[in-house]
Amino acid sequence: MKKRNIVVANWKMNPETLEEAKKVFNGARLAAKGLKNTDVVVCPPFSFIFPLSKVIYPKNMFLGAQNASTEIKGAFTGEISVEMIKNLSAKFVIVGHSERRAMGESNEIVRKKLQITFNTGLTPILCIGEKERDKEGTHLAFIKNQIKECLADLHKKYLVGIIIAYEPIWAIGKSYKEAMSPTDIHVIVLYIRKVLAEICGRDIANSAKILYGGSVESQNALEILEIGNVEGFLVGHASLKPEEFKEILQTADVKK
Ligand code: 13P
Repeated sequence: MKKRNIVVANWKMNPETLEEAKKVFNGARLAAKGLKNTDVVVCPPFSFIFPLSKVIYPKNMFLGAQNASTEIKGAFTGEISVEMIKNLSAKFVIVGHSERRAMGESNEIVRKKLQITFNTGLTPILCIGEKERDKEGTHLAFIKNQIKECLADLHKKYLVGIIIAYEPIWAIGKSYKEAMSPTDIHVIVLYIRKVLAEICGRDIANSAKILYGGSVESQNALEILEIGNVEGFLVGHASLKPEEFKEILQTADVKK
């Protein structure tokens, strides 16, 4: 059976006001309504999750968090637990985003966050991706290591249908012209599945949903889906522009 596409909106630390957040969310809500084969996950900053959870949105739309603590509860000032996220009726958690890794999050921390997210019954979106590429292909070894260390010792039952967002750091926050080429994305998608097959077996590798993130805009969404062979996107800046995001969602929905 063909998997449903999934488009994740990572708002990062935007927008500044709840009023603006509601506007952006409303745009996504209206666009999601018309989709047949695509799920939409909106990941606002923590402070907006609760008020947005009160809005009625369609069944193919979900709220997600951009991060979660490695700890269950207790004296961890400034942290938000997976249980708290669950209680806000969010269903997804972005884990290991490169912007968090840049703040010191190791593969071991990401692994803990994955475990605790699975334990709570939420769905993690595991982010991987290299800082730079070279002709020798060291980025491939880097990606393999990220996958291996992040999934180490996680029970296979959790890994069925795992969502992996491949986000090459060098392609993040630019324009579609500077995104990774769809052909190169395809190579990496095949590579990620190969690594997954080595680590957890072919069935899990085939069940995984692989998304691309890094300057996805309405202009490059279609060719990334068609040639890149991904099952969706993790969208940053374009997810804050309702018209732009709507086009990306519609593109994802048509390409089945
Ligand atoms: P941009 O779409 O702004 O490049 O961001 C990508 C990203 O980091 C999403 O998580």
